[in-house]
Amino acid sequence: MTDPDALEALLTRTVQHALAYRRSLAERPVAASASAEAMLEGLAAPLPELGTPAQQVLEQLVQSAGPGLTAMSGPRFFGWVTGGTLPSALAADWLTSVWDQNAGPASGAPAAAAFELLALRWVVELLGLPPEARGALVTGATMANLAALAGARSQVLAAAGWDVERDGLFEAPPLRVLVGRERHASIDKALRLLGLGKRSIEVVEADAQGRLRPAALRAALAGWAGPVIVCAQLGNVDSGAFDPLPEIALELEEWRRAHSRELGWLHVDGAFGLWARASRTLAVRAPGAEAADSWATDAHKTLNVPYDSGIVLTRHPDAQRRAHAIQAAYLSSGARAGLPNPGALTPELSRRARSFALWAALRELGREGVDQLVTRCAAHARLLASLLQAVPGARVLNEVVFNQVVLGLEPPAGSEPRAWLSELCTALQEEGTCYATPSLWRGVPALRFSIVNASTSEPDVRRTAQALQRVYAARSLGARA
Ligand SMILES: Cc1ncc(COP(=O)(O)O)c(C=O)c1O
Repeated sequence: MTDPDALEALLTRTVQHALAYRRSLAERPVAASASAEAMLEGLAAPLPELGTPAQQVLEQLVQSAGPGLTAMSGPRFFGWVTGGTLPSALAADWLTSVWDQNAGPASGAPAAAAFELLALRWVVELLGLPPEARGALVTGATMANLAALAGARSQVLAAAGWDVERDGLFEAPPLRVLVGRERHASIDKALRLLGLGKRSIEVVEADAQGRLRPAALRAALAGWAGPVIVCAQLGNVDSGAFDPLPEIALELEEWRRAHSRELGWLHVDGAFGLWARASRTLAVRAPGAEAADSWATDAHKTLNVPYDSGIVLTRHPDAQRRAHAIQAAYLSSGARAGLPNPGALTPELSRRARSFALWAALRELGREGVDQLVTRCAAHARLLASLLQAVPGARVLNEVVFNQVVLGLEPPAGSEPRAWLSELCTALQEEGTCYATPSLWRGVPALRFSIVNASTSEPDVRRTAQALQRVYAARSLGARA
């Protein structure tokens, strides 16, 4: 057993380090100062034969990791779609490790299960989803897409008379999966892991903002009477655009009326965009999600819960449970029956108790606070877009309907646009004020800024625009000289 005094000293020191890091976030260069290669070179050492006192391990860890830490939870990190860290969620996340619960059967880990069931009930209400939706916490939206689509596959094939859990996929009836052209790559990955490779995925056209076209969906459904899964999304990873879910749901509903309700399934990937529905002013842009059969989202993006915190929700928990069922005599935790095990809806067996941090975030913010957080991020995105649009040579390429800004920049004559943009992005990161990441938006190399951090302020947005202008001017002049 650890000596309690030594543990107290260790944890007290950990708090000091944590506070020093958190205080540094506002001003430290956002990008890490060391590359992964340099980090590994510096760290490389033979596996230690003998142990080291915990205090010393802590000091070594903090000292060694420092140069390779990116200020991802800081106010000017806009790469990928990366949320910040709410104070109560951070504290709850620490306690999650202290309590070290394996969030399996509710009878074995009652607190973890109860907090998960309640927090997800709150999420369902906040996002305006049907009260009968059930869910579970997973690592992220990729895993949430996988977990939900496993349930979808099970149900639509069962409706076609095929038991996929028993008979696998080899001789299964053809199953069509219709996805928007601008879906997130994790949909393809999830489908592939479910045995639905590239050839079973059919792409439905999207418009200039990346929104799936309902008329193209209607055309794709026409003449088909077998099992079908439609994947739509709220929040395109580049443009932030929302698929027109009311129209999409209507198309599927008409198809279902003509064929069979159970043969069709609508899945919504709303990794960050589902949260628009928690904003009084933005909810009108993301209607119709309540009509879906399953949903994937993240708390580690828009809600600012620390990594990792993904959420899968379904209207058909029985199908999802069937898809993920696992049986072994040793898994029983005794005779006490009670609440369902949320983990039974996921591919995982042992699970971190992610519910405490999610509950804490929702408790800290309340409905009002979530609304303000989401609305503020979107307002910051609009401000950033207007400041960047004013930079000579820069052009905002997307309609800024949520928290994403996609920026095209005129490259110097003679340069290869994609390579030049990528170098400019690196130069911007190295300058240290902010962090954006590159993408290819409808064939155009672009910088993306994703604003999903509760600590981002208006001055942060202005500093970001100024940094971009400085770095862009320097790169353009440098190229001309
Ligand atoms: C629309 C969408 N779906 C899925 C994902 C994957 O989420 P995660 O990284 O949490 O697995 C993302 C990530 O940005 C996303 O934007």
